[in-house]
Amino acid sequence: MASTLRFNGRVVLVTGAGGGLGRAYALAFAERGASVVVNDLGGDFTGVGKGSLAADKVVEEIRRKGGKAVANYDSVEEGEKIVKTALDAFGRIDIVINNAGILRDRSFSRISDEDWDKIQRVHLRGSFLVTRAAWDHMKKQKFGRIIMTSSASGIYGNFGQANYCAAKLGLLGLSNCLAVEGKKNNIHCNTIAPTAGSRMTQSILPEDLVEALKPDYVAPLVLWLCHESCEENGGLFEVGAGWIGKLRWERSLGALVRQRTQPMTPEAVKANWTKICDFDNATKPKSIQESIGSIVEALNKINSGGEVSANPTSRATSATTSEFARAIGHKFPPLYSSYAELDTIMYALGVGASIKEPKDMKFIYEGSSDFSCLPTFGVILAQKSIMNGGLAEIPGLSINLAKILHGEQYLELYKPIPRAGKLRCEAIVADILDKGSGLVILVDVYTYSGEELICYNQFSIFVVGSGGSGGKRTSDKAKAAVAIPNRPPDAVLTDTTSLNQAALYRLSGDWNPLHIDPNFASLAGFDKPILHGLCTFGFSARHVLQQFADNDVSRFKAIKVRFAKPVYPGQTLQTEMWKEGNRIHFQTKVQETGGIVISNAYVDLVPASAISAKTPSEGAGLQSTLVFEEIGRRLQGIGEEVVKKVRAVFEWHITKGENTAAKWTIDLKTGSGKVYQGPAKGSADVTITLSDEDFMEVVLGKLDPQKGSPLCSVVLQVPVRPPLFGDMSPGLGNGEPERTLGQSLQGLTSLFLQSSLFIGTRNKGLRAYSQQNTYKARI
Ligand code: NAI
Repeated sequence: MASTLRFNGRVVLVTGAGGGLGRAYALAFAERGASVVVNDLGGDFTGVGKGSLAADKVVEEIRRKGGKAVANYDSVEEGEKIVKTALDAFGRIDIVINNAGILRDRSFSRISDEDWDKIQRVHLRGSFLVTRAAWDHMKKQKFGRIIMTSSASGIYGNFGQANYCAAKLGLLGLSNCLAVEGKKNNIHCNTIAPTAGSRMTQSILPEDLVEALKPDYVAPLVLWLCHESCEENGGLFEVGAGWIGKLRWERSLGALVRQRTQPMTPEAVKANWTKICDFDNATKPKSIQESIGSIVEALNKINSGGEVSANPTSRATSATTSEFARAIGHKFPPLYSSYAELDTIMYALGVGASIKEPKDMKFIYEGSSDFSCLPTFGVILAQKSIMNGGLAEIPGLSINLAKILHGEQYLELYKPIPRAGKLRCEAIVADILDKGSGLVILVDVYTYSGEELICYNQFSIFVVGSGGSGGKRTSDKAKAAVAIPNRPPDAVLTDTTSLNQAALYRLSGDWNPLHIDPNFASLAGFDKPILHGLCTFGFSARHVLQQFADNDVSRFKAIKVRFAKPVYPGQTLQTEMWKEGNRIHFQTKVQETGGIVISNAYVDLVPASAISAKTPSEGAGLQSTLVFEEIGRRLQGIGEEVVKKVRAVFEWHITKGENTAAKWTIDLKTGSGKVYQGPAKGSADVTITLSDEDFMEVVLGKLDPQKGSPLCSVVLQVPVRPPLFGDMSPGLGNGEPERTLGQSLQGLTSLFLQSSLFIGTRNKGLRAYSQQNTYKARI
């Protein structure tokens, strides 16, 4: 049998307890051991008059039954005095039942100022004043239970009660807010809308109903909501005749009626009206965070130029295991995304790469001879592929986007991420785990360049509160986090994030206002905007790469992290690292607080020996790649004219060590010319083999092409036509020791175009060898 709910030691204040519902509460609490303050002004039901009789009678009744009670005759407009009575008599205050009330019913146009004000003062302001007087005592003792008394009239509206309806629903707003503010101190606030026979309702309800609807059929709900074992907080209940029901908000799926590039119009609202008001698949938002989640999602969708479709927040019913089965294996629409050096540099700056650290230059300066994309850039495109509304469209799952947390992340690279390119991401729901307190959705994302797999990501997305349907708790598909070794770290690196860190990081594609807008952040429960978890992830990975792989991106194999806590921009990140073979375990702390923000993490490195034996992959890490891309760009606009004069296809074999590391084709034979990676699509007229290093020596002006290369010396004897190449031939071979990359590129570009022109116009064989056999050209 369930144990009796007792209130021994608790002090309860019931306002308006001289009759009706308040009296029933006071008696019930006292009967179960509470000490009760019986407050009542003792006036009539319109608020006229006063007297002590009502309160005294109830106190007497309680005492007669052996209970503890004191009377108070103040109006609720004197909240401090009423609470003082509790403190003076019993030394504390645990529970406040805001019950006192009056009526001044009039049709709207006949409501006088006094009718309006009096109702607001007794119901709304009275409840505010009494509760405020008790609040700090409750906070200190870390316990409090508060009841607000609303009314069906306020919830649904009722003729002749505009003043009363406004005050009664105002109380619900007050309660909602106190539930949020009091939660961390174990202060719960709930609202009831009772129906009971009393002097207040005797003029409204038939006599037999007044008799039948006893206040005693409401009191048990109030007692339960105020018991220390009751977790309910912020609830709204209709109660009467022994029946209790809970109310909640319901919101239609809604419709997006705005597009990024167009103004929002009333016509668009009209056109979508049926959809806006359609409650099929409606949600039941429980908090302002949930409410705002859809707005943020809509904003993201509009900003990212996503399609205008239904608000993606789907129905809130939790999924069952059979619904999981439908969701697992669901493929997201593939995402094609181009990025340029600008994007990789912006990302590197976003995760803290800096000119302060000379070794970071390779990540932030495209002219660096070893310019590279940070390996963790691999999460950026993958994240885009699942963020664009796709998560909310998984069949069989109801994901409230305001309730998702990024739990863990795994990234594995199969080759260094190209410095620029066009990649394709294919995402799939790998598995769904039921952790009780929520679901974990494992989303695997494969990123390809053409047919080649570049990297693999696994996102562990935690959906708060949707679990508990008995699904499996673990999965062999999950990439597991690994505990750190139990010894002091082998290395620690720190970096202070800038106040603008999140503002900078978001430019890489995660536009969630939570990371920049203080209002959104406070709605989500944070003091100020927080840093992106994946930004901290990028900082930590950079630390590991710097400490244990000398920033060599080709040594980065995989990373796994668990996100533990948020970071605020401006805080200092401290990455603690442990080396165990090729695995670097790490955790990241906020130095100022000592709090762990990334836990149970590791980076797997490729052994250094394996790297030196490896041939560089096609084009990746080659310095000449930049030059060929530049030639391609420069050809635009003048290509047709050059083609007319050249009429030849050149195939370049760029070598690294003993191997051909990349092939490039400069087609100056057809159309307006083309530069592309790979062998010539038809046959080449000229094949030139050249080491990547020598190529760049020429680019950087270190190797004088006039002296160092027979090919170049021949080329440069050819007269250049100023109108065609006038702006493209400065700097080459002029012996200046310092030239900008731009000038060097212009020089080399000019060289190649000139050489093409030369060979094309002569259309004869050319054979040239350098002494070191570095340059070879043949037709
Ligand atoms: P009631 O009239 O029997 O009780 C209200 C008590 O509050 C009275 O004893 C009155 O003297 C006291 N009071 C009025 N003004 C006061 C003030 N300024 N300071 C201290 N005490 C004051 O009415 P009932 O039905 O018991 O109502 C209790 C509460 O429940 C009220 O807030 C009412 O609006 C609400 N309610 C009642 C419904 C019902 O069906 N009885 C329906 C919906 C809401």
